[in-house]
Amino acid sequence: MPEIEVILADITTLQVDAIVNAANSSLLGGGGVDGAIHRAAGPGLLEECRSLHGCKTGEAKLTRGYQLPARFVIHTVGPIWHGGNQGEADLLAACYQNSLRLAADNRFISIAFPAISTGVYGYPVDLAAKIAVTSVQNFLKEPSSIEKVIFCCFSQNDLDIYQKILLSV
Ligand code: AR6
Repeated sequence: MPEIEVILADITTLQVDAIVNAANSSLLGGGGVDGAIHRAAGPGLLEECRSLHGCKTGEAKLTRGYQLPARFVIHTVGPIWHGGNQGEADLLAACYQNSLRLAADNRFISIAFPAISTGVYGYPVDLAAKIAVTSVQNFLKEPSSIEKVIFCCFSQNDLDIYQKILLSV
Protein backbone atom coordinates (compact mmCIF):
# COMPACT_ATOMS: atom_id res chain seq x y z
CA MET A 1 0.00 0.00 0.00
CA PRO A 2 1.30 3.51 -0.78
CA GLU A 3 2.22 5.57 2.23
CA ILE A 4 0.69 8.93 3.27
CA GLU A 5 2.92 11.06 5.49
CA VAL A 6 2.29 14.42 7.19
CA ILE A 7 5.27 16.60 7.99
CA LEU A 8 6.07 20.13 9.12
CA ALA A 9 8.57 21.52 6.61
CA ASP A 10 9.44 24.01 3.91
CA ILE A 11 8.35 22.18 0.76
CA THR A 12 11.28 23.63 -1.20
CA THR A 13 13.68 21.45 0.83
CA LEU A 14 12.06 18.10 -0.01
CA GLN A 15 13.86 15.52 -2.14
CA VAL A 16 10.94 13.93 -3.95
CA ASP A 17 10.05 13.32 -7.58
CA ALA A 18 7.64 16.26 -7.55
CA ILE A 19 6.52 19.02 -5.25
CA VAL A 20 3.17 20.64 -5.96
CA ASN A 21 2.97 24.41 -6.27
CA ALA A 22 -0.18 26.30 -5.18
CA ALA A 23 0.09 28.72 -8.09
CA ASN A 24 -2.23 31.28 -9.68
CA SER A 25 -3.63 30.98 -13.20
CA SER A 26 -0.84 33.06 -14.75
CA LEU A 27 1.80 30.55 -13.54
CA LEU A 28 4.18 33.51 -13.41
CA GLY A 29 4.88 33.45 -9.68
CA GLY A 30 3.41 35.13 -6.63
CA GLY A 31 3.64 35.08 -2.84
CA GLY A 32 3.32 32.22 -0.35
CA VAL A 33 4.55 28.80 -1.38
CA ASP A 34 4.63 29.90 -5.05
CA GLY A 35 7.13 32.65 -4.27
CA ALA A 36 9.24 30.30 -2.15
CA ILE A 37 9.35 27.67 -4.92
CA HIS A 38 10.37 30.21 -7.58
CA ARG A 39 13.07 31.66 -5.32
CA ALA A 40 14.52 28.24 -4.54
CA ALA A 41 14.27 26.91 -8.11
CA GLY A 42 15.90 29.93 -9.75
CA PRO A 43 15.05 31.78 -12.98
CA GLY A 44 14.84 28.68 -15.17
CA LEU A 45 11.51 27.83 -13.59
CA LEU A 46 9.89 31.13 -14.52
CA GLU A 47 11.21 30.80 -18.04
CA GLU A 48 9.62 27.36 -18.45
CA CYS A 49 6.40 28.58 -16.83
CA ARG A 50 6.12 31.37 -19.42
CA SER A 51 5.96 28.71 -22.14
CA LEU A 52 2.92 27.06 -20.51
CA HIS A 53 0.51 29.98 -21.09
CA GLY A 54 -1.21 29.73 -17.72
CA CYS A 55 -3.35 27.09 -16.05
CA LYS A 56 -7.06 26.95 -15.24
CA THR A 57 -8.33 26.54 -11.69
CA GLY A 58 -8.37 22.85 -10.76
CA GLU A 59 -5.93 21.85 -13.51
CA ALA A 60 -2.22 21.00 -13.23
CA LYS A 61 0.90 21.46 -15.36
CA LEU A 62 4.41 20.03 -15.08
CA THR A 63 7.84 21.68 -15.15
CA ARG A 64 11.33 20.62 -14.19
CA GLY A 65 12.63 21.47 -10.69
CA TYR A 66 15.79 23.38 -11.69
CA GLN A 67 17.75 24.18 -8.51
CA LEU A 68 15.24 22.47 -6.22
CA PRO A 69 16.05 19.12 -4.65
CA ALA A 70 12.74 17.94 -6.18
CA ARG A 71 13.12 16.76 -9.78
CA PHE A 72 9.85 18.29 -10.97
CA VAL A 73 7.21 20.83 -9.98
CA ILE A 74 3.52 20.24 -10.56
CA HIS A 75 1.79 23.60 -10.73
CA THR A 76 -1.88 23.59 -9.82
CA VAL A 77 -4.30 26.46 -9.26
CA GLY A 78 -6.56 26.17 -6.26
CA PRO A 79 -9.93 27.89 -5.98
CA ILE A 80 -10.32 31.21 -4.18
CA TRP A 81 -12.69 30.71 -1.20
CA HIS A 82 -15.96 32.59 -1.72
CA GLY A 83 -17.92 30.96 1.12
CA GLY A 84 -18.20 27.43 -0.26
CA ASN A 85 -21.13 27.71 -2.67
CA GLN A 86 -19.17 28.38 -5.83
CA GLY A 87 -17.83 24.91 -6.54
CA GLU A 88 -14.77 25.39 -4.36
CA ALA A 89 -14.76 21.83 -2.99
CA ASP A 90 -14.91 20.18 -6.42
CA LEU A 91 -12.23 22.49 -7.78
CA LEU A 92 -9.93 21.79 -4.84
CA ALA A 93 -10.46 18.03 -5.21
CA ALA A 94 -9.63 18.41 -8.92
CA CYS A 95 -6.29 20.03 -8.00
CA TYR A 96 -5.30 16.92 -6.04
CA GLN A 97 -6.68 14.48 -8.63
CA ASN A 98 -5.07 16.18 -11.63
CA SER A 99 -1.73 16.59 -9.83
CA LEU A 100 -1.69 12.90 -8.91
CA ARG A 101 -2.73 11.89 -12.43
CA LEU A 102 0.16 13.93 -13.88
CA ALA A 103 2.56 12.35 -11.38
CA ALA A 104 1.35 8.84 -12.20
CA ASP A 105 1.47 9.49 -15.97
CA ASN A 106 5.15 10.40 -15.51
CA ARG A 107 5.85 7.33 -13.36
CA PHE A 108 6.72 9.41 -10.29
CA ILE A 109 7.09 7.52 -7.03
CA SER A 110 6.97 10.36 -4.48
CA ILE A 111 5.01 13.62 -4.41
CA ALA A 112 4.56 16.36 -1.79
CA PHE A 113 1.59 18.72 -1.50
CA PRO A 114 1.27 22.02 0.36
CA ALA A 115 -2.14 22.94 1.81
CA ILE A 116 -3.47 24.29 -1.51
CA SER A 117 -5.76 27.37 -1.31
CA THR A 118 -5.48 27.74 2.49
CA GLY A 119 -3.19 30.79 2.46
CA VAL A 120 -3.81 33.82 0.26
CA TYR A 121 -6.88 32.09 -1.29
CA GLY A 122 -8.59 31.84 2.12
CA TYR A 123 -9.94 28.26 2.08
CA PRO A 124 -10.62 27.15 5.69
CA VAL A 125 -7.83 24.72 6.49
CA ASP A 126 -9.96 22.07 8.19
CA LEU A 127 -12.29 21.82 5.18
CA ALA A 128 -9.40 21.91 2.71
CA ALA A 129 -7.45 19.24 4.59
CA LYS A 130 -10.43 16.87 4.52
CA ILE A 131 -10.66 17.26 0.75
CA ALA A 132 -6.90 16.80 0.40
CA VAL A 133 -6.90 13.58 2.42
CA THR A 134 -9.98 12.02 0.82
CA SER A 135 -8.87 12.95 -2.72
CA VAL A 136 -5.46 11.36 -2.17
CA GLN A 137 -6.91 8.26 -0.51
CA ASN A 138 -9.37 7.77 -3.37
CA PHE A 139 -6.63 8.13 -5.96
CA LEU A 140 -4.38 5.63 -4.17
CA LYS A 141 -7.10 2.96 -4.25
CA GLU A 142 -6.17 2.34 -7.88
CA PRO A 143 -2.68 0.98 -8.61
CA SER A 144 -0.16 3.55 -9.91
CA SER A 145 3.55 4.36 -9.73
CA ILE A 146 3.01 6.49 -6.62
CA GLU A 147 4.38 4.95 -3.43
CA LYS A 148 4.56 7.99 -1.18
CA VAL A 149 2.39 11.11 -0.77
CA ILE A 150 3.57 13.78 1.65
CA PHE A 151 1.32 16.50 3.08
CA CYS A 152 3.83 19.24 3.79
CA CYS A 153 2.40 21.56 6.46
CA PHE A 154 3.87 24.96 7.17
CA SER A 155 2.49 25.40 10.71
CA GLN A 156 1.98 23.21 13.76
CA ASN A 157 -1.75 24.04 13.63
CA ASP A 158 -2.06 22.69 10.09
CA LEU A 159 -0.04 19.61 11.02
CA ASP A 160 -2.42 18.87 13.93
CA ILE A 161 -5.45 19.23 11.63
CA TYR A 162 -4.07 16.85 8.99
CA GLN A 163 -3.02 14.30 11.60
CA LYS A 164 -6.46 14.33 13.21
CA ILE A 165 -8.16 13.80 9.84
CA LEU A 166 -5.82 10.97 8.87
CA LEU A 167 -6.51 9.22 12.15
CA SER A 168 -10.28 9.59 11.75
CA VAL A 169 -10.69 8.20 8.23
N1 AR6 B 1 6.43 25.24 2.23
C1 AR6 B 1 5.24 24.66 2.48
N2 AR6 B 1 4.09 25.34 2.63
C2 AR6 B 1 4.15 26.68 2.50
C3 AR6 B 1 5.35 27.38 2.21
C4 AR6 B 1 6.52 26.60 2.07
N3 AR6 B 1 7.72 27.16 1.80
N4 AR6 B 1 5.08 28.71 2.15
C5 AR6 B 1 3.75 28.85 2.39
N5 AR6 B 1 3.21 27.63 2.63
P1 AR6 B 1 -0.45 30.08 -0.31
P2 AR6 B 1 -2.92 29.68 -1.88
C6 AR6 B 1 1.81 27.27 2.93
O1 AR6 B 1 -0.89 31.43 0.09
O2 AR6 B 1 -3.76 29.93 -0.68
C7 AR6 B 1 0.34 32.93 -4.29
O3 AR6 B 1 0.61 34.30 -4.38
C8 AR6 B 1 0.92 28.33 3.53
O4 AR6 B 1 1.20 28.48 4.92
O5 AR6 B 1 0.96 29.89 -0.72
O6 AR6 B 1 -3.25 28.50 -2.76
C9 AR6 B 1 0.01 32.33 -5.65
O7 AR6 B 1 0.74 32.93 -6.68
C10 AR6 B 1 -0.45 27.70 3.29
O8 AR6 B 1 -0.70 26.71 4.27
O9 AR6 B 1 -1.35 29.50 -1.55
C11 AR6 B 1 -1.47 32.59 -5.76
O10 AR6 B 1 -1.72 33.88 -6.23
C12 AR6 B 1 -0.25 26.99 1.93
O11 AR6 B 1 1.16 26.94 1.72
C13 AR6 B 1 -1.96 32.45 -4.34
O12 AR6 B 1 -0.86 32.76 -3.52
C14 AR6 B 1 -0.91 27.69 0.77
O13 AR6 B 1 -0.80 29.11 0.90
C15 AR6 B 1 -2.40 31.03 -4.03
O14 AR6 B 1 -2.97 31.00 -2.74
